[in-house]
Amino acid sequence: MAGVTLDQVTKVYDGANESAVDKLSLNIDDGEFVVFVGPSGCGKSTALRMIAGLEQITDGDVRIGPDVVNLIPPKDRDIAMVFQNYALYPHMTVERNLDYPLRIAGVEKDELKKRVTDIARTLQLTELLDRKPAQLSGGQRQRVAMGRALIRRPAVFLMDEPLSNLDAKLRVSMRAEIARIQRDLGVTTVYVTHDQVEAMTMGDRVVVLNGGELQQVAPPELLYNRPQNVFVAGFIGSPAMNLWSSTFTLHDDGSGEVAIGEQALQVPVAVVESHPGLELLDGQGVTVGIRPDDMHDDATPESETTVVAKITLREALGSEVICHLDVDQKRLMIDDPDLEEMAAEGLSPEIDFVGRFAPTSVAAAGTEHTVRVDANKLHFFDAGTGLRLEETTA
Ligand SMILES: Nc1ncnc2c1ncn2[C@@H]1O[C@H](COP(=O)(O)OP(=O)(O)O)[C@@H](O)[C@H]1O
Ligand SMILES: [Mg+2]
Repeated sequence: MAGVTLDQVTKVYDGANESAVDKLSLNIDDGEFVVFVGPSGCGKSTALRMIAGLEQITDGDVRIGPDVVNLIPPKDRDIAMVFQNYALYPHMTVERNLDYPLRIAGVEKDELKKRVTDIARTLQLTELLDRKPAQLSGGQRQRVAMGRALIRRPAVFLMDEPLSNLDAKLRVSMRAEIARIQRDLGVTTVYVTHDQVEAMTMGDRVVVLNGGELQQVAPPELLYNRPQNVFVAGFIGSPAMNLWSSTFTLHDDGSGEVAIGEQALQVPVAVVESHPGLELLDGQGVTVGIRPDDMHDDATPESETTVVAKITLREALGSEVICHLDVDQKRLMIDDPDLEEMAAEGLSPEIDFVGRFAPTSVAAAGTEHTVRVDANKLHFFDAGTGLRLEETTA
């Protein structure tokens, strides 16, 4: 097995004036599961296809193990790939579908049998070896396609949106299944998806791309808790982070406030102090973010950081109550399918904040509510560059 290194990898398609992938650098460890995520057209498939050798590299190097493979054809790269549209041979049994790549390669019969038994066990296909593809469910067929790719024991396993053709429920179970299989086999894996939940639940590390450019590479929790820029902040998380253009004001006692509509959201001393860049922004613009999870409906008179909101919509989901909050402040829309969906439903996503409240919340649509904001969970970004004002860790 082997790791994969991308060194300033760039792709400019013939006739295009922008790079589909722009100077992408990344080290993927041996045995690691890395997920590429980002909106449609951000260059995920192009990056994967350059690793596979299916797309010529315009500039930079791809290494598999120690070797630069830029000019090595796909079949000689020791990789296997599963796409969204996998094709099984309909007239062959599952067993024949699985061992096909080995028979082609002339692997002898005992070894063939052993490998099929092994991979069938890992993929839980043992009971299905005599069936034809037509007698399988979508998920089973997908597992056979993976088995056929993995039976050659490739150094690197590449998957491009392998679950997009499955229904929602099956996607969730296959997600866990693929993660388990990857752990069992320990094969270096690069997985492409536009679905951030898929990315967050499956990857050891998640690579966020936008417009062909790397935005952040991090384990899921870090990506969620410390997005490096506004794009990642808005893209990762559902419902999306509430982000808005604001102004910071420093108080004499070392605390501060950020504007939210006509209101002032208090920023405690400790939060100002833990963000070294913040004091310097006194009187200036700053982009502020707060996740729906960090807004609560349990404000008391002692609560320091609060905002009064009119509840425009209440969605009781059983385990939580999602409330749409009019705080008289436009939100920044950053490639958020949820917001686009709301707009299509005639709601006004450009002004509504979203809070995720406890299931016991009595916040009612049409009423005004004082919402408590967890000030320790505020995110601050440079108004110009969109880069995170990094906090010091206590
Ligand atoms: N064969 C191609 N020729 C020209 N442009 C392409 C080709 N394939 C993809 N592109 C362009 O490159 C960019 C990245 O595409 P792609 O890698 O498919 O994105 P993703 O997989 O993230 O949706 C897009 O702007 C797309 O239109
Ligand atoms: Mg794609």
